[in-house]
Amino acid sequence: MLDFLEDRLGLVTAFRSSMSQKHPPRGIGYLRTIGFAALTVMLLQFLSGIALAVHYVPTTELAYPSILALEQDLTFHGFAFGSFTRALHHFGASAFVIFVVLHMMRVYFTGAYKQPRELTWLSGIGLFLIVMGFGFTGYLLPWDQKAYFATKVGTEIASDTPLIGAQVKEIMRGGTEVAQPTLTRFYIIHVVLLPIALLGVLGAHFYLIQRHGVSAPGRPVGDEGEPGAPYFPDHTFKEALVGVLVSGALFYMSSAYRAPLEPLADPSDTSYHPRPDWYFLGLFQLLKVFTTSRQLGTFWVPAGFMTLVALLPFLDRGKERHWARRKLATALGVLVCLVVAGLTIAGFRDDPHKHDAEAAGEGAKKAAAKSLGPVIPYPLEFTDMERRGYALVRRLKCHGCHSYVSKSADGKQVTHGTQHDGAPRLDEFESDTLKAVADYVRQPEEGSEMPSFSNVTEQDRLAIAAYVLRLTRQKKAPK
Ligand code: HEC
Repeated sequence: MLDFLEDRLGLVTAFRSSMSQKHPPRGIGYLRTIGFAALTVMLLQFLSGIALAVHYVPTTELAYPSILALEQDLTFHGFAFGSFTRALHHFGASAFVIFVVLHMMRVYFTGAYKQPRELTWLSGIGLFLIVMGFGFTGYLLPWDQKAYFATKVGTEIASDTPLIGAQVKEIMRGGTEVAQPTLTRFYIIHVVLLPIALLGVLGAHFYLIQRHGVSAPGRPVGDEGEPGAPYFPDHTFKEALVGVLVSGALFYMSSAYRAPLEPLADPSDTSYHPRPDWYFLGLFQLLKVFTTSRQLGTFWVPAGFMTLVALLPFLDRGKERHWARRKLATALGVLVCLVVAGLTIAGFRDDPHKHDAEAAGEGAKKAAAKSLGPVIPYPLEFTDMERRGYALVRRLKCHGCHSYVSKSADGKQVTHGTQHDGAPRLDEFESDTLKAVADYVRQPEEGSEMPSFSNVTEQDRLAIAAYVLRLTRQKKAPK
């Protein structure tokens, strides 16, 4: 059977000739496995991304509930598989960026981008931009507060593109606001366009690596060094080890920690301070540096910098590869790393939630922690209808007048919303049947300040009632 397959496919022969015939130059160590670490994370992102896409619903109404349902219901023999998958995708995104940047730093400091590998570098820049694109588009998908407001700011920044800024913003948003068309677009870009682009550019990257081999450590341009140990099994062993360690670390983090999820997006919330994911914090901080000329920080500096980085192999024509013999390049590289790290750290320290908390004392500190932490607004046993009710209560802003308490996944009591004078709490209504609550919502008492929600369908009013009554029961239940 194996002979039959080998005769037809020739895979073993192809493997032998492509792997064991290759002898990378001597001195290739673990620094040359960072790219493989990025590849490992990419594979995990594909797998976890597909698992998430099976459950995710890309509509403003259902995106958030579908993620809650995924995190709470998707268990496998007691293992919180949904929560694990989402955490894996969340931490994987950060790891992806980290490894891609470390890999770029390795290539820079070892001078590996020089002739004849200029195009390999250029394709690598393409991969870097694609990975950042994944981060930016993926951030919106949970449709929670941070997703909504970060995208609002992000698309606003895009409008600083010279000449076509307004059009770029409108194309990204699919209209004037961040709304359903934005979510549709970001979702399609995230799950269709970027994966295709990634695989295409990665193919080119690999082809070029195959064609030119890896650069010999410390040797100048033109000297490809002496052949070292065969690629297989020597270097492949190192890569396999790194792959196992990276996956292990990510698996551990994803089972120990949850991916954060803030409350459902509330476009009318004017007090929310938007913040991008950490790998965009440096860029975000740049805006605060160039306060006088906004466009300098939002467009010219980042675009100019990326152009210089992309053209690096064509600008730096020196023959040396060893960092100690490229004093200017090494100094510049270290400087850039320090500036980027400094901006990112400054971005972290500039956490507006923290400022609010410090200014307003203990209560606000708790509120800030709450808005950042994974608040799960309903426990496992909620029905579909009650979940729908939850989404509606948030969307119609019932909690703007009726505050309420609910239990988070870890059993803590969490207070939602603000209390309007004269309004009963949402979990303490007198109306105690589905019908009574739904009727009141359609037609509040004469002269009451409560607005009528007769424009909402009866199904939705009943869903709201189901959620409200569940909260009431939950509150009355003995601890
Ligand atoms: C603008 C503030 C406001 C908003 C928004 C609001 N309510 Fe009310 N609601 C009130 C006030 C005030 C009362 C008390 C009415 C009275 O007794 O005069 C009330 C009363 C009620 C009652 C009757 C109380 C009882 O004990 O049975 C129900 C049920 C209710 N609201 C549900 C809702 C739901 C559901 C929503 C969201 C779809 C909502 N409300 C949105 C202000 C509001």
